[in-house]
Amino acid sequence: MRILVIDDEQSQRNLLAGYLTKQGHEVRQAGSGPEALALLEQRGAETAITDMRMPDMDGLTLLEQIKSRYPDMQVVVITAFATVENAVTAMKQGAADYLLKPVNLEQLTLILKKIEDSLNLVAENRYLKRKLESVESFPDMIGQSAAFQKTLADISQVCQSDTTVLIRGESGTGKELVARAIHSGSKRANGPFLAVNCAALPETLLESELFGYERGAFTGAQKRRIGRFELADRGSLFLDEIGDLSPTMQVKLLRVLETRSFERLGGSESIKVDIRLITATNRNLEKKIADGSFREDLFFRLNVVPINLPPLRERKDDILLLVDHFIKKFAAKSDKHIKGLTPEAKDILINYNWPGNIRELENVIERAVVLTRSDTIDKACLSGLTNAPVAVSFGGDLNLENLEKKAILEALRQSDGKIIEAAGLLGIHRNTLRLKIKHFGIEPIE
Ligand SMILES: Nc1ncnc2c1ncn2[C@@H]1O[C@H](COP(=O)(O)OP(=O)(O)OP(=O)(O)O)[C@@H](O)[C@H]1O
Ligand SMILES: [Mg+2]
Repeated sequence: MRILVIDDEQSQRNLLAGYLTKQGHEVRQAGSGPEALALLEQRGAETAITDMRMPDMDGLTLLEQIKSRYPDMQVVVITAFATVENAVTAMKQGAADYLLKPVNLEQLTLILKKIEDSLNLVAENRYLKRKLESVESFPDMIGQSAAFQKTLADISQVCQSDTTVLIRGESGTGKELVARAIHSGSKRANGPFLAVNCAALPETLLESELFGYERGAFTGAQKRRIGRFELADRGSLFLDEIGDLSPTMQVKLLRVLETRSFERLGGSESIKVDIRLITATNRNLEKKIADGSFREDLFFRLNVVPINLPPLRERKDDILLLVDHFIKKFAAKSDKHIKGLTPEAKDILINYNWPGNIRELENVIERAVVLTRSDTIDKACLSGLTNAPVAVSFGGDLNLENLEKKAILEALRQSDGKIIEAAGLLGIHRNTLRLKIKHFGIEPIE
């Protein structure tokens, strides 16, 4: 547990802190109430053990402050026999227990054990209650296709454990949504969920973002900054685009995973963290491992449980369901009533191959809802949704004249030799096309 010991007498603090550290707790000390509150703001604790009589702020006031800011925190008060009635008041104000001076360490151990048990029970109850509340466990995640049901089953499975998860899928397939679902379906749901995009920041910025830094760690570090690893304590940290991590950062991340601790930049204190790591990438990590740009040992650590998100074109059964979901969402937003789609519009949506996956579908529907002037979405609202042509093969010939001739022949073929239509496909005037046909000696098909 993280325990904060507050006493104005240093020897008393050291005694307790030394004992508790040996018992495996993470202990910090404060010499006064205000110092304790400042420390808690930086980094929380599950339990505070405080002396009652202190010069700056007495134990009762500190108890009250702690309880109003951190209602879940447990406070044990230590009191001299002479002021035992204070202990009674403290219990009435929400203290977990009290101890008489001189502190009996065995008794303290028992009290802390009781606190730990009750905290675990609270977490467990919240988790069970949430499970009951959400009969349909992931209401935001739409999809009935077999491929997607398999993904949902995988997600439910990992919610119950605390293992590292690697989410893989093309851009826009819902990686971040899944990461959030895993967090909120897990026992850590009441803790923080923090997301960091590893590709969005240059290495040095990413490093200080993740690890934080001490004042003076580098020019411009005027104040201590707490990093994401620390802020995500007791919660989940989502590292997106993990495949773009630089080699140095890969080593650093590996170390955190191995030791579950790290130091702030410019700091020497080793900070323990309790986080669940969820990572995602749309890169081919196996290929990156093969060419040496991604560490295999890190990959094994990250890939404890892999979740693969299928591209939308492989779960076409879900397209219309998703369309429905997004129509409702955007119709409500723009205060429109929309009944549905014309059969033609449905065909277009199903036949399109969605390179940008669900994100692209969401954008297309948002635009269509804005564009439509009636209560249905028709073909006209979906302009531009044509599949990219299969890549042109140059057959090794990069001579521009030859390519121009090939393009003209292909345009004439596609338009059955109709000059005006072929010129339209080529984006040139029909007279220009006639000249070129003559120049290349192409036989008219008309
Ligand atoms: N199954 C789903 N049901 C409903 N909406 C979804 C589903 N999956 C994804 N979305 C929506 O699609 C959009 C893209 O999802 P998300 O940002 O999670 O994708 P991503 O894989 O992280 O994309 P990128 O690689 O571009 O970062 C979001 O608005 C999300 O809410
Ligand atoms: Mg994303």
